Amino acid sequence: MAQLVLALILGLAILTWVASGVVETTARGWFERDVGDRSRLVLVSAGPSLAGAWSNQSSLGQHLAELARDERVMGAAACGLDLQPRAATPGFPTDFGCWAIGARLRSGGAGSSIREWSTVADPPSGRIHVSVMPVSSEAGQLGFSILLHDLSYIQIREEKARSFLLAAFCLLALLALLLPVFAARWARYGWNTELRTFLRGGGRGGKREFQPLLKDVRELVERMAHERDDVPGQWTARRLKQALNRHLHGERVVIVSNREPYLHERTQGGIEVRHPASGLVTALEPVMTACSGVWVAHGAGSADRETVDANGRVRVPPGEESYHIRRVWLSEEQESGYYYGFANEGLWPLCHIAHTRPTFRAEDWRQYQAVNRLFANAVCEEVDSEDPIILVQDYHLALVPALIRERLPAATVIMFWHVPWPNAERMGICPWRDELIEGLLGSSILGFHTQLHCNNLIDSADRYLETRIDREHNAVAKSGHRTLVRPYPISLEWPVKWAEAAASPRDCREQVWHELGLKPGALLGVGVDRLDYTKGVEERLLAVELLLETHPEYRGRFTFVQLAAPSRTKIERYRQLNDAVEKVAARVNERFGAEGYRPIVLLRAHHEPAEVYRYYRASDVCYVSSLHDGMNLVAKEFVASRNDLRGVLVLSEFTGAARELTEALIVNPYNLEAAAGALAEALRMPPGEQADRMLAMRSVLAQFNVYRWAGTMLADAARLRSQERLSSRLSARQPAMV
Ligand code: F6P
Repeated sequence: MAQLVLALILGLAILTWVASGVVETTARGWFERDVGDRSRLVLVSAGPSLAGAWSNQSSLGQHLAELARDERVMGAAACGLDLQPRAATPGFPTDFGCWAIGARLRSGGAGSSIREWSTVADPPSGRIHVSVMPVSSEAGQLGFSILLHDLSYIQIREEKARSFLLAAFCLLALLALLLPVFAARWARYGWNTELRTFLRGGGRGGKREFQPLLKDVRELVERMAHERDDVPGQWTARRLKQALNRHLHGERVVIVSNREPYLHERTQGGIEVRHPASGLVTALEPVMTACSGVWVAHGAGSADRETVDANGRVRVPPGEESYHIRRVWLSEEQESGYYYGFANEGLWPLCHIAHTRPTFRAEDWRQYQAVNRLFANAVCEEVDSEDPIILVQDYHLALVPALIRERLPAATVIMFWHVPWPNAERMGICPWRDELIEGLLGSSILGFHTQLHCNNLIDSADRYLETRIDREHNAVAKSGHRTLVRPYPISLEWPVKWAEAAASPRDCREQVWHELGLKPGALLGVGVDRLDYTKGVEERLLAVELLLETHPEYRGRFTFVQLAAPSRTKIERYRQLNDAVEKVAARVNERFGAEGYRPIVLLRAHHEPAEVYRYYRASDVCYVSSLHDGMNLVAKEFVASRNDLRGVLVLSEFTGAARELTEALIVNPYNLEAAAGALAEALRMPPGEQADRMLAMRSVLAQFNVYRWAGTMLADAARLRSQERLSSRLSARQPAMV
């Protein structure tokens, strides 16, 4: 027996040694590829601003310093085609200077162009990633930029991985040593009782010696899981797909929301596909395209019924067809009570502090319950296992998590609430608050944009329901079921496909100038919203009015174009808003308009994303003035659209986005003087400052994109899932108490 154990330990040692070599090489390759991609992204984004500052050494130096702000960047330099440095960050190593690099990459003789290039160098001081990118203006190549990344942190990671493997080896060796002891005891007492006691962590005094061991294993697994999710580098559609495969073994995802990602509309020219104006859809569509699966949603388009198969399904996106929509059909009565009534006259004003009184009607509530059941049934028809992963979206479907849990107790339900959650006192005015919270607590994970909204939900559950609150882990337990409540700020895909496909900012500007009849030298502001009272459109136009009143130099020169998508027009409050906005626009145009000049252009229509991005890229300033907003993706879209690093974002402090886009000009939209002042500041902001702010905001968006949003939620769900599976296995094996 002793020989067998020794052979086992020797075998394990050899296996560990071989595995550590393979792990090291593979992980190093991944890390280096990530750093390469990141360097490339940084240099490509910085290209226009470096070109703009080329002839000004100090401004060029500032841009380089900005690039080198990340602690892993060792230095950045800008070099001319004569291989002379134009500017460099302090202490830039001469071994990688303009001459050393440029001479290697020159395509011809002196002054010839330099191509894009990257490599990993291994000097005695430690590994370095070198990235080179040409810098060009319209006149041709000006020179090139160099970015150096310190890769020593990869070595540190490798050492950590080695210690993990060593720890695993020690544990396995320990287990191998304990094996004979077990064998002897099993032979005497029977293996079954022994294993149960061991898995329970030892019920009688003698077995407690295994508890520290189990604790160590658990901690090790936990730490390794976190390590893998925290790997630096950008989240992409591919990485999300890999994470889904790794954590959830490729199980397909089911999304359910009221709004569908593609509507089929009948028009005079035939059936057209539309992208609805919805932050939810903007964010989730790329996730679904990456993950594939099924999206259950209300079929609201006039030609939706004509475009589905016998099961109400249609494959999308048109041309790509990577997932399918399962449409749920609602009668007019159902839509009126559930969507217009309870969701949008009750919950919407309840959740947003925008001073519109919520209306609660018993009949609307009955329809809300019935329609939530319809959605839950459709989801259960679409799943392909007993324990599917279901992502439920938004305030229209608060009862769906509990309804799914009734039918599929092992499902992992992630509910994401896209709007704010009010404080407990305010929530208290809803006659069906208990049922709503109970419905939500059917979820495994309940996500909000901010920690504040998580706290509000936990307080509401604490105040109105019989629950056990675990504040340390942000969890609520009700009737034996536990829900984790977590903030996951939503975002955009990166890069955004609409920005990639758009014409150059100069061409966009030319087209928009032509469409709006603007004069050369005019300045343009843009607002993009559903016409909703929470968006502060009236306040925005009043700020423009005050700007023109207090800054006469902008009269005749500054135009504000508002793209307003009609929304929820069957509700009286939305019709009132429409009239009020129209009135303010007419008054401002009356006061400050002149022959051939309209200060406010109100475009009340649905605009497809390609058109919206054209306006973003043509504008000098974008003003997002929401009175209250969970996140607001318009702010993020504007930043994503400006790969030329121009334009200024003026952003309401009452949006979730203001917590992340801190380089915007942040304003209180109720404070018209401050808002008008911010608009004036935006219009006179020098291009260098615009570029600095844009660069900073764009790097936040690149890093915290929607793939990361979804990846983090799915990884949390996967952890929860394995914990639940483990504990249900343990309890199934636990002997009955006598
Ligand atoms: O962002 C909040 C939100 O309610 C989304 O969930 C919704 O899709 C969007 O606003 C647009 O509203 P609607 O779906 O009513 O047109």
